[in-house]
Amino acid sequence: MRRLQGWAIQHYIHNKALLKGFALCMVKNAHNPELYNYFNYQFNEEQTHPDLAKRFGLAIGLKEDDFQNASQIFECFAHTSKTIRGMLLGSPAENRVSGLVDETMVQRYSEEFDTHMRRHYNLGDSALQFFLVHKAADEDHIKMASEIIARYTDSPAMEQLVRQTADYAVRFKLGKFDGIYRYYS
Ligand SMILES: [Fe+2]
Repeated sequence: MRRLQGWAIQHYIHNKALLKGFALCMVKNAHNPELYNYFNYQFNEEQTHPDLAKRFGLAIGLKEDDFQNASQIFECFAHTSKTIRGMLLGSPAENRVSGLVDETMVQRYSEEFDTHMRRHYNLGDSALQFFLVHKAADEDHIKMASEIIARYTDSPAMEQLVRQTADYAVRFKLGKFDGIYRYYS
C-alpha cells in the first residue's frame, strides 16, 4: 500500500510540472498555429490530472498534508527533468516522442491498476478516475503525438535523436517505478 501511496504523491508532483511544461510549449510555439493548438489542447486535457492522482492517494489513506509537504524522490526528479528538458530544449519531434513513450506506458499500466485496484482493494470509479481516463483518452494523445513526430522528423539526424529520446524515456520511466518501489518499501 505504501508503494501505491508513493506513486500517487510522485505522480501528483510530476503532473503539476507537466502542466507548466505545456504552458511553456504554448508560449514557445505561439507563432505556429498547429503546435500552439496542440499544446493548448494537451494543457486542457491534463489540467485535472494532478487532482486525479491526489484523489486516488486520498482514497488509499493519504492526507492533504502528504501532498503539500512532499518532494520528488531521485528517480522521479530525473524523469520530470527529462520531460521538462525536452519541452524547453528539444525539437517538436524529441519533445513529443517523450510524451508518446510516457503516455503509452501510462495507458498500459492504467489498465492494470484499474482492474486490480477494483478487485483487490475494493475501489470504485471515483478513486480510480485517473486510471479510467488514462486507459482510454491516452489513445488519442498517442495518435496526435505520433503525427507530430512523423511531421517534424525531417532528417536522418533527427530520426536518430528521436530513437535515442524514446530509448531514454523508457529507461527514465522504468527507473521511476524502481525508485518508487525502493523508496516506499
Ligand atoms: Fe494525464
